[in-house]
Amino acid sequence: MSESKRHEPTAFEFRAASLFDVPALAELAAASFKVPWSGEMIASSLAAKGSAGLCAIYKPSVVEETATKSHGGQAGSVTGALKGALIGRVMADEAEILFLAVAPEFRRRNLGRELLQRQLSRFDAAQIGKVYLEVAQSNEAARRLYQQNGFETVGVRPNYYSAGRDVPENALIMMRRGRFATGSERSSDI
Ligand SMILES: CC(C)(COP(=O)(O)OP(=O)(O)OC[C@H]1O[C@@H](n2cnc3c(N)ncnc32)[C@H](O)[C@@H]1OP(=O)(O)O)[C@@H](O)C(=O)NCCC(=O)NCCS
Repeated sequence: MSESKRHEPTAFEFRAASLFDVPALAELAAASFKVPWSGEMIASSLAAKGSAGLCAIYKPSVVEETATKSHGGQAGSVTGALKGALIGRVMADEAEILFLAVAPEFRRRNLGRELLQRQLSRFDAAQIGKVYLEVAQSNEAARRLYQQNGFETVGVRPNYYSAGRDVPENALIMMRRGRFATGSERSSDI
């Protein structure tokens, strides 16, 4: 079986993040951020009141037996692997996106967009009025993703990011207004 066949069809399952996901989330953070979140930081953000975490689990339906064997796994086994995640937090009728990352080998395949849109739909269903986030000014990929999904820059924190950088960098504060019909039933399922 060819390498490309092994990765098709690609299937992702989306589910809520839990404390069991902390090691995989820390690994994803290490591959994604200049100053990665520690396991403790991730665990405390997931345990915090109002936490809203979403994971994308990769479940290829076709697994090359020999490839699995050569990696020491069980031949033919299909196990899910966490390849993307978003962690948000709801405070009354506002929310914040604290963490969004996609594993490097799965970037530019719409997974970041999917995670973001799923979480925004949940915020809308819960009638969250404003969603905020902070993003490094130079992070073109994330800024474009957020702009495409209704976020606009509403402020700047000068030299906000300094750890792990030679030169401190500004953080942009971005905000998206909730999209929901007024008077519709509020859902608590975020
Ligand atoms: C930002 C990130 C989550 C995007 O995830 P992704 O799955 O690669 O993004 P998608 O494939 O869903 O792309 C959606 C849109 O984002 C933008 N985008 C994503 N990657 C981009 C890149 N390398 N350059 C420019 N724009 C990019 C594009 O507008 C894209 O839409 P398009 O394909 O229609 O042009 C991913 O690059 C990542 O994990 N980066 C490291 C962690 C990070 O910076 N997180 C954000 C912190 S605020």
